Amino acid sequence: MYLKNAWYVAGWENHLDGGLLARTICEEPIVFFRGEDGKIGALEDRCCHRSAPLSVGRLKGNEVECGYHGLRFDRTGQCTAIPTQELVPPSACVRSYPVILKNRWIWVWMGDAAKADESQIPDYFFLENNAWANIDGYFYVECNYQSYIDIQLDQTHSPYVHPDTLGNAAKLRVKPSVKREPRALKCERLFPNDDPPPLWAKAANIKGKGDSWNRWIYTPPATIMFDVGAAQANTGAFEGNLEHGITVHNAHGITPETGTTTHHFWSNARDFGLDDPETEEQLSVIRRVFREDVTICEAVQRRVSQFPDAHQIDVAMDYPTLQARNMLARLIKEERE
Ligand code: FES
Ligand SMILES: [Fe+2]
Repeated sequence: MYLKNAWYVAGWENHLDGGLLARTICEEPIVFFRGEDGKIGALEDRCCHRSAPLSVGRLKGNEVECGYHGLRFDRTGQCTAIPTQELVPPSACVRSYPVILKNRWIWVWMGDAAKADESQIPDYFFLENNAWANIDGYFYVECNYQSYIDIQLDQTHSPYVHPDTLGNAAKLRVKPSVKREPRALKCERLFPNDDPPPLWAKAANIKGKGDSWNRWIYTPPATIMFDVGAAQANTGAFEGNLEHGITVHNAHGITPETGTTTHHFWSNARDFGLDDPETEEQLSVIRRVFREDVTICEAVQRRVSQFPDAHQIDVAMDYPTLQARNMLARLIKEERE
């Protein structure tokens, strides 16, 4: 069950460079493309004639030509030409999806097109800003998207899944402060004068104790933005002085493909050492760190698929992830009603 009247991240802008992009989102196969005029389109990936996937056809100017018998479709999904006949019946059409390019991400609206509201797309400005350098990625993950959102929102896994990079013992001691808004969940954990996560401690060149923090904003259904960082302890980082510290922003677009497969579009953005190869190399480890999440979540999915009715317990540390699940469940319920 998915929230339909919502924006999902469908890809990085450069995923359109190869022509027609086939991507299944919320179990709906879609073909994405960029026309000669530079505008992008998203159509149901099933020809209305004999059901050939349009993604195995060809891009012709601003239209998609089916690779079976050559019917052509414009960005609205209307068929514009049928070989062997003059007349194109109005019923010759496929569904088109509202689609927008924002901050280098392709965003697609999966529900009622009349309700598509661009203002609901969160502003991940740091994905496309000269003051920030990005390490980008895309993972195809074989697990349910909600369990993959769970791991991003839950920092208590870090000492176990990422012990040498993001794990610090304080993550288990400090209770998160969670704030609910109508369409967002915000969480903050501050770790003053404590052992900072090794990765940030190294990047910020911290000696001994540090002040570190982990803040996220979850925008349902499936995007998350992080502000994390660390500074030498007691140098005013919590008040905004980053002279002795660093901050990075992470963006996660976690898009369900099916009930057990997920697209993960991510970026790690920094506003320091922009052209410094050493910083770039140091932070590139984030790719391996995010892969560690994939490994554990895929292992979990295999067990869940094997024992779908097995009882799971909730414990105190699940508080933020349960809040996020409840928020999404409420939105889905409201949409259905
Ligand atoms: S299946 Fe597409 S033109 Fe025939
Ligand atoms: Fe993780």
